[in-house]
Amino acid sequence: MKKTLFLLMFISLSAQATPFADGNANRGNKLFTKYECSSCHEARVGGDGSAIFTRADRTVRSADNLIVQMERCSGAIGKQLSSQEKQDLAAWLNQSYYHFK
Ligand code: HEC
Repeated sequence: MKKTLFLLMFISLSAQATPFADGNANRGNKLFTKYECSSCHEARVGGDGSAIFTRADRTVRSADNLIVQMERCSGAIGKQLSSQEKQDLAAWLNQSYYHFK
């Protein structure tokens, strides 16, 4: 019984250790292209726009921040991302740039 409890605690702790566990990074990558997420970022930081995620003074500092910022960005182009799309995009951005644990 004790062992089971310990195992359950371990599982829930490790689940928390991965933000956007419900997201699929491959799908997120495709959504990023589909919604032309780079268009504004390119205009702002040049290149392929990805420098917006790696600049020293980047705004996103946590997994929660990331979701909020994506809502702001998609709102600016009149798109409403579904919660699954947010998870997918965040999983991809996190895997590629942010590495939040
Ligand atoms: C209408 C223009 C526009 C579009 C389209 C857009 N963004 Fe952005 N995005 C911005 C701007 C401007 C910033 C910088 C905000 C700042 O400096 O605080 C930004 C910043 C971000 C950041 C934070 C970067 C950092 O500083 O850590 C993320 C994450 C992001 N965008 C995701 C997305 C995603 C995902 C999409 C596609 C669904 C998207 N954006 C589409 C304008 C846009």
